[in-house]
Amino acid sequence: AACGNSDTGDKAADDGKIVLGFSQVGAESGWRTANTISIKESATKAGIELKFDDAQQKQENQIKAIRNFIQQKVDVIAFSPVVESGWDTVLKEAKDAKIPVILTDRAVDSQDTSLYKTFIGSDFVKEGKLAGEWLVKETAAATGPVNIVELQGTTGSAPANDRKKGFADAIAGSPNLKVIASQTGDFTRAGGKAVMEQFLKANPKIDVLFAHNDDMGLGALEAITAAGKVPGKDIKIITIDAVKDGMQALADGKFNFIAECSPLLGPQLMDLVKRVKAGETIPTRILTEEGTFTPEQAKAALPTRAY
Ligand code: AHR
Repeated sequence: AACGNSDTGDKAADDGKIVLGFSQVGAESGWRTANTISIKESATKAGIELKFDDAQQKQENQIKAIRNFIQQKVDVIAFSPVVESGWDTVLKEAKDAKIPVILTDRAVDSQDTSLYKTFIGSDFVKEGKLAGEWLVKETAAATGPVNIVELQGTTGSAPANDRKKGFADAIAGSPNLKVIASQTGDFTRAGGKAVMEQFLKANPKIDVLFAHNDDMGLGALEAITAAGKVPGKDIKIITIDAVKDGMQALADGKFNFIAECSPLLGPQLMDLVKRVKAGETIPTRILTEEGTFTPEQAKAALPTRAY
C-alpha cells in the first residue's frame, strides 16, 4: 500500500503490504462475532493490513464504508452485504477505481457479475433444505397437521431469503406440514424472543419452530419456557449455524436439529485477497463445507468446537 511521506521527506512509497477494507454486517449474532474474529485473526496471520468497519446492520453504513475504502485506495474490498439488493452503484464505483471486490458470506443480486471477483460462503438454500428434510423424516409417522412457526433472518438478506426457500421446498411434498406463522427476528436473540412471544400468544398449537439462526432460537427458548412449554419436547426446534451456545442447547435436548453454517471464512478470504492482488484468476464461487447435528452429534462435537 502507498505510504504517506516518510520522516526523511521521501515521496509516497509503497510498503508492499496489502490493505484490505472489510465491511462487516454488524455484531447481531454469535455467528457474526466468530466471523469477525476469524477475519481479524487471519488478516494478522497473513500479514494483511485490515481496515475493518462495523455497519450495525445498516446498508447505508456499508455503502459509506465502501466509499471510504475507495477513497483510501485500499488494494482489495471485501464485504458481507446486509441485504441482497441495491449494490450496483457502489460496486460500479469500486470497479471504476480498479479495486477488486470479494463478497464474503452473503451474496448480492446484481445482474452484472463483473462487479465482484468471487463470492465465498455457504449454500443457504441447502441449509434450509437440510432443516426441512430432517423435519419431513422426523414427522413421517404424524397423522394430523404439524404446525410450524418460522423465525426469519434479516428481511432482504440472502440467508433469510434462501433458508426460507430451501425449507419451503423440502416440506412442499408433505401437506400436513404447515408454516402457520413466519416473521423476521432480525437474526438476534432479542428479536427471536419478542417474535416467539407473539407467535405463542396468537397460536394455541405450535409443534415446531424453524429459526434461521441459533441466536433467534435461543431467544425463543426463553419465550417458550415462560409460556410453560418444554422446548425440544412440546415444541421441536430446528436452527441453523451450530455456534457453541446453539450446540449446547442441542446437546441439552432443548434444540432438536441444527444445520451448520461455518463462520470461519477468514483464512480462505485472506488467501483469495492475495491471489486477487497478484492478478490471478480465481473461481467465481467458493462454497463452504458444512454438515448437520443431532443432539448426540452435538455432545460429541462440543468439547473441540472452535466457536
Ligand atoms: O449470513 C450468515 C448469517 O448471519 C448467520 O446464519 C446468522 O447467525 C448471521 O447473523
